[in-house]
Amino acid sequence: MNIAIIGAGYVGLTSAAVFAKLGHKVWVLDTAQEKIRLLKHGKVHFYEPQLPELIRGAVKKKQLVPTESYAVALKSADVIFVCVGTPPLETGESDLSQVFHAAEQIAKYLKKDCVVVMKSTVPVGTTEKIKEIIKKKTAVSFDVASSPEFLREGSAVSNTLYPDRIVIGVESNHTAKILTAKILLKLHEKLLGERVITDLRTAEIIKYASNAFLATKISFINEIANLCDSVGANVDDVALGMGLDPRIGKAFLKAGIGYGGSCFPKDTKALHRVAISNAYNFKLLKAVIEVNQTQRRLFLGKVRRELGTLEKKNIGVLGLAFKNNTDDVRESAAMDIIQWLINEGANVKAYDPKAMQNAKKIIHKLKICKKPEEVALKADALLILTEWEEFKNLPWPLIKKKMRDAIIFDGRNLINPQSIRKYGFKYMSIGRP
Ligand code: UDX
Repeated sequence: MNIAIIGAGYVGLTSAAVFAKLGHKVWVLDTAQEKIRLLKHGKVHFYEPQLPELIRGAVKKKQLVPTESYAVALKSADVIFVCVGTPPLETGESDLSQVFHAAEQIAKYLKKDCVVVMKSTVPVGTTEKIKEIIKKKTAVSFDVASSPEFLREGSAVSNTLYPDRIVIGVESNHTAKILTAKILLKLHEKLLGERVITDLRTAEIIKYASNAFLATKISFINEIANLCDSVGANVDDVALGMGLDPRIGKAFLKAGIGYGGSCFPKDTKALHRVAISNAYNFKLLKAVIEVNQTQRRLFLGKVRRELGTLEKKNIGVLGLAFKNNTDDVRESAAMDIIQWLINEGANVKAYDPKAMQNAKKIIHKLKICKKPEEVALKADALLILTEWEEFKNLPWPLIKKKMRDAIIFDGRNLINPQSIRKYGFKYMSIGRP
């Protein structure tokens, strides 16, 4: 099939690369010139494992065509995926301006009988609004659908190539439902994963409910960890003991400084706003959001309690990204904690395998180091704030030698407490004695 993807971010580019790999012809559009220029050279403007290789191959074979022009992208498209950003507004609601702008442009160029699919995470009812916007500006017949994306940064390509499920929301009108669903099922036919065919609003809610539930698991285990700290129990073992029950599952029960990124913080707040605007008091979700915000503060409190004042203290930080395997620092717990440390007068030096440039754009005062062990020089404490695998095996004796005081605060429960203490470190983590 001929596919147009609007928006060259994580979701758009990964979907474009995977659809091209499946043999479809794909046009990927973005209004940012620089992103398209890079793509034309087979390069990606963010770090995502496996993605550049796929893009490079597809661009070379002309299976994937990057463009800034809606006319070019939509000329032969049977299916259009809207994958533009929906960042949060101050109120917690989603800013839908990019989605509405895309709809206006789509209306000008869309081909007869094409399907416009919303992939961006959007509040309930948005796909219907998109239909109205397009309908007002075109006489051409078309249909809309909602097919949310569940990929995770850092493993976006394999999540999209091997999805757990493919959700397809179509209009409740019977004929439209059958036709549009058929087209989208055909488009995805080479992919595994259960198909969930439903209506537009349900599809939109599935995405929010999934992210909110995962966020709930994280806030839940973080509260259990805080309790473990008080009673002297071990949250890792609690999570294991709970997670072995298949009804609970082991995933997303890692305690730490809370969730960040471009999805969980935004989507939990947006779903909460949806509840408020529908006069529903979503108490549980409100608590999940609050617990996550408090978790970073509690961690800083631990550091402060141990070091006394933070004024003029040298703090070495390992990890800036909101999680491992990404260079993304959006809503990163590490970034908040570093900003607070700096505000309290600490000198912060940091290292991250991928996210240093992005972090520096936001916190200009941040000193960055080329190697992890450099952050330890004359440090009064070392903070681990992102769960990068490489932080598990650092040259600890060398690091200890460089530090003024050998204290480690592990905000990700990454390191084995017994083994690190053998090197003579004072070691503190989250919910582990
Ligand atoms: C998430 C969803 O997982 C994905 O399905 C959706 O499409 C987009 O949002 P992503 O934002 O890439 O994906 O990150 P994810 O891997 O889910 O992690 C989110 C945050 O939770 C990270 O900050 C991570 O460190 C934290 N986390 C995750 C925990 O603190 N504990 C855990 O057990 C798991």
